[in-house]
Amino acid sequence: MQKTFDFTGQNVFVAGGTSGINLAIAEAFAGAGGNLAVLSRSPGKVTSAVERLQVLGATAIGFTADVRDYDAVERSLRDAHAEFGEFDVLVSGAAGNFPAAAIDMSPNGFKAVVDIDLLGTFHVLRAGYEFLKKPGASVINISAPQAKVPTPLQAHVCAAKAGVDMLTQVLALEWGGQGIRVNSIIPGPIENTEGMARLAPVPEMQKAVAQSVPLRRLGSARDVAGMALILASPSAAYVNGGVIPVDGGWSLTGFGDLMNRLSAHVKPTG
Ligand code: NAP
Ligand code: COA
Repeated sequence: MQKTFDFTGQNVFVAGGTSGINLAIAEAFAGAGGNLAVLSRSPGKVTSAVERLQVLGATAIGFTADVRDYDAVERSLRDAHAEFGEFDVLVSGAAGNFPAAAIDMSPNGFKAVVDIDLLGTFHVLRAGYEFLKKPGASVINISAPQAKVPTPLQAHVCAAKAGVDMLTQVLALEWGGQGIRVNSIIPGPIENTEGMARLAPVPEMQKAVAQSVPLRRLGSARDVAGMALILASPSAAYVNGGVIPVDGGWSLTGFGDLMNRLSAHVKPTG
């Protein structure tokens, strides 16, 4: 069967690629013929992700590192480059989250999330630059709706992911001349993920969230992975500096969706 996307022989590095959405992204590239390198903190998660990618037929390697540690990130990228050669695709998706009001958050709690999400993304991109294919590489940052929507209990994530998207846009400008495209994906609420489990831990909450999405369902990790494939493919060759929602229209809701729901109760006048 002909593949919709063909990344045969291309080298893909996914920071935070050992579970959830980022692992689904790694699996999508593996299924499309790519060579995969994944990185995260837990040796067990790294080993099992590499095994899953190999089952899909990919050449896959893994690195145990914390994105907050620049030297460890740089070493992993250097070793992956020594094994594979230049990266065609670099994904930065490692993140942390917990719900807490700002007043209940210690400075170290705020710092932990900003250091993983924002500084970690800077580390991955800063260290990865040397090993990117120039021209031709595609860098994809995984952002979140909190980057755009001020969200109670999420001061740390809002600040960090807004920074990630600004980094995306600045580096799109700085690296465009080298033929490197830099884009962000903003996933909406994604089923069966750690992120959803932390923010909407009971089924009733997840149902309510699903109903608030214009498509009336939660997204799947594969929905997000599909956008990563598109962004890295020649079809997106002129897409640079984009901050792209994959959220069933969730980012459009608010007053507009409220009116949409209320319209059932509005009697025509006149
Ligand atoms: P997840 O399964 O917890 O994925 C996070 C990944 O990052 C894991 O592989 C984790 O592995 C790794 N990681 C965490 N801290 C790290 C660190 N300090 N250094 C290196 N790796 C680290 O969560 P997810 O829900 O799928 O989220 C994935 C991405 O999507 C995140 O960027 C998140 O902000 C974004 N997102 C998620 C949703 C959602 O609905 N779930 C919505 C919008 C955006 P280790 O534990 O082994 O380190
Ligand atoms: N409420 C308030 N503060 C919290 C908290 C919570 N639920 N969970 C952690 N913190 C605080 C800790 O108390 C600590 O601050 P302190 O030193 O002042 O006490 C700080 O955050 C760091 O916690 P620690 O457990 O040492 O951090 P870590 O670096 O091991 O882990 C986290 C980082 C906290 C983000 C952790 O939840 C994590 O590793 N998450 C990754 C998975 C994830 O969140 N996936 C979803 C992605 S959307």
